[in-house]
Amino acid sequence: MPTFIDGKTIAARSQASTADEIARLRARGITPGLAVVLLGDHPASRAYVRSKDKTCRELGMYSRKLELPASTTQEELLHLIAGLNADPAIHGILVQSPPPRHIDEAAVVRAIDPRKDVDGFHPLNVAALAMEDPSALVPCTPLGCLELLRAYDIPTRGARAVVVGRSLIVGKPMAMLLLAKGADATVTVAHSRTADLAAVCREADILVAALGRPKFLGAEHVRDGAVVIDVGINRVEDPADPRGYRLVGDVDFDAVAPKCRAITPVPGGVGPMTIAMLMGNTVRACRALTGGE
Ligand code: GUN
Repeated sequence: MPTFIDGKTIAARSQASTADEIARLRARGITPGLAVVLLGDHPASRAYVRSKDKTCRELGMYSRKLELPASTTQEELLHLIAGLNADPAIHGILVQSPPPRHIDEAAVVRAIDPRKDVDGFHPLNVAALAMEDPSALVPCTPLGCLELLRAYDIPTRGARAVVVGRSLIVGKPMAMLLLAKGADATVTVAHSRTADLAAVCREADILVAALGRPKFLGAEHVRDGAVVIDVGINRVEDPADPRGYRLVGDVDFDAVAPKCRAITPVPGGVGPMTIAMLMGNTVRACRALTGGE
């Protein structure tokens, strides 16, 4: 039987320690504040934004949830971000991705004050991560994956890691984190155009699936004894579920789990870690901005 990596428990532990830090800051009159911006009404994005807002409040942070119509213009969004950059009550700014198609997401990311860029998507933070600068704000999902490996004492030093997916949100920063000194993995980044993907994936001691395609990786992609981190959160139709859908990962869990040393379930694996890391990043940003570091 593989170890099922329990993201809910690890995330709860991380959030408890973040809540302690928040309490200490509040005792000094500083309340960390996070602004989450959502354009449009994409159901999964709305659910994520609601969950970020709720967790923020539960931990004692100030949360500002800004839900704007999909018709919001680039100019209006940039104006809003300029206001948040200048607002001393806000220490973290997140614009939920993906935005509507008329929005230039790269320009939006560049407009966010890099010190408030709790997503770690700003070019200065991307560069800081590549340079292994400890002050970098690091993207939450890959940071959460690394935390899970640490929490379960899964060694990365010298391990062969294969990251499937090359997004700015997960794949690229995940590869950089695993490659960095201290983590010391040997990293391959694969993607939808990789020749003989299954053979590449079978090289992995640690396989990170982040391509956003339901159950795309099967038993043929995993070698015996591998650790599988499934970042995918895909809604698939399920008439038997009262919501009409259920969540599945990028990995075919039932086919893969018996081969693994350890595997993250979906839901309850990586998902809760993303929010926990966002809370941690917001507190870090707050401390840096208020001189409390
Ligand atoms: N959409 C899916 N994951 C994320 C994330 O980590 N940050 C943002 N801003 N959007 C997302």
